[in-house]
Amino acid sequence: MKYALVTGGSRGIGRAVSLKLASMGYTVLVNYVSNEAKAQETIDQIKAEGGDAVLMKFDVSDAEQTREAISAWQQEHPEDYIEVVVNNAGIRRDNLIVWMSPEDWGSVINTNLGGFYNVTSLLIKPMLLHRFGRVINMASLSGLKGMTGQTNYSAAKGGLIAATKALAQEVARKGITVNAVAPGFVRTDMVEGLDEAELRKLIPMNRFGEPEEVANLVGFLASKESSYITGECISINGGLYS
Ligand SMILES: NC(=O)c1ccc[n+]([C@@H]2O[C@H](COP(=O)([O-])OP(=O)(O)OC[C@H]3O[C@@H](n4cnc5c(N)ncnc54)[C@H](OP(=O)(O)O)[C@@H]3O)[C@@H](O)[C@H]2O)c1
Repeated sequence: MKYALVTGGSRGIGRAVSLKLASMGYTVLVNYVSNEAKAQETIDQIKAEGGDAVLMKFDVSDAEQTREAISAWQQEHPEDYIEVVVNNAGIRRDNLIVWMSPEDWGSVINTNLGGFYNVTSLLIKPMLLHRFGRVINMASLSGLKGMTGQTNYSAAKGGLIAATKALAQEVARKGITVNAVAPGFVRTDMVEGLDEAELRKLIPMNRFGEPEEVANLVGFLASKESSYITGECISINGGLYS
């Protein structure tokens, strides 16, 4: 059996990525932090399509919780390893920096960037031993361009892109690729409350993206077909920024 872990797989982009990886033959470990009902919906959808998936609850920003959950899985599956990890769990807490609380700075950095470290540092060793792995990090247009009201989120995503490039070089000789995906506006809970009618005027394709469009790119990066691509950050934004 082949295993993939998708952090934040309960909703939005993570759900679409979980469905995509399941359709590629992976048993998907669907991580979430609080929304069990939504995570279960992801599992049910995967099973309805003939795939296999299990729930894996932990807070990616909490190193101890992450270690406990992943170690427990590893002990139950001594012959297996997680060959694909999609570091997708993310939050935003937007504010101009003059009003940004230390909590909103910290939680965004600890989830979007700290989560990458907490998860990936545990999974990379088995990938090295098996000489195959795929690490895919969900960055953002904000991490490339920077966005007003998002110094915390832009810093976290920019850091994630830099970490992607560094780790790619560390493990390139061992059959492991490390890439990032940088979506623009994608229709999920995260963009609720944004003025879509106004924002789409800025997007050459004149629409928000769909989670499945991001999932198709992640699926390609997870596949063997992407074997010579590493250390890249691929934008998927309808032409908004390149
Ligand atoms: N939507 C966009 O326009 C857009 C654009 C660029 C980048 N992105 C990035 O794409 C990723 C997915 O975004 P989305 O739009 O699909 O967001 P979303 O619909 O708000 O879903 C966020 C997911 O992350 C999980 N999560 C949040 N904090 C977590 C934590 N501490 N530990 C574990 N899981 C956690 C949530 O779990 P629960 O359900 O349990 O809360 C949920 O599954 C994020 O990294 C986001 O920054 C999104």
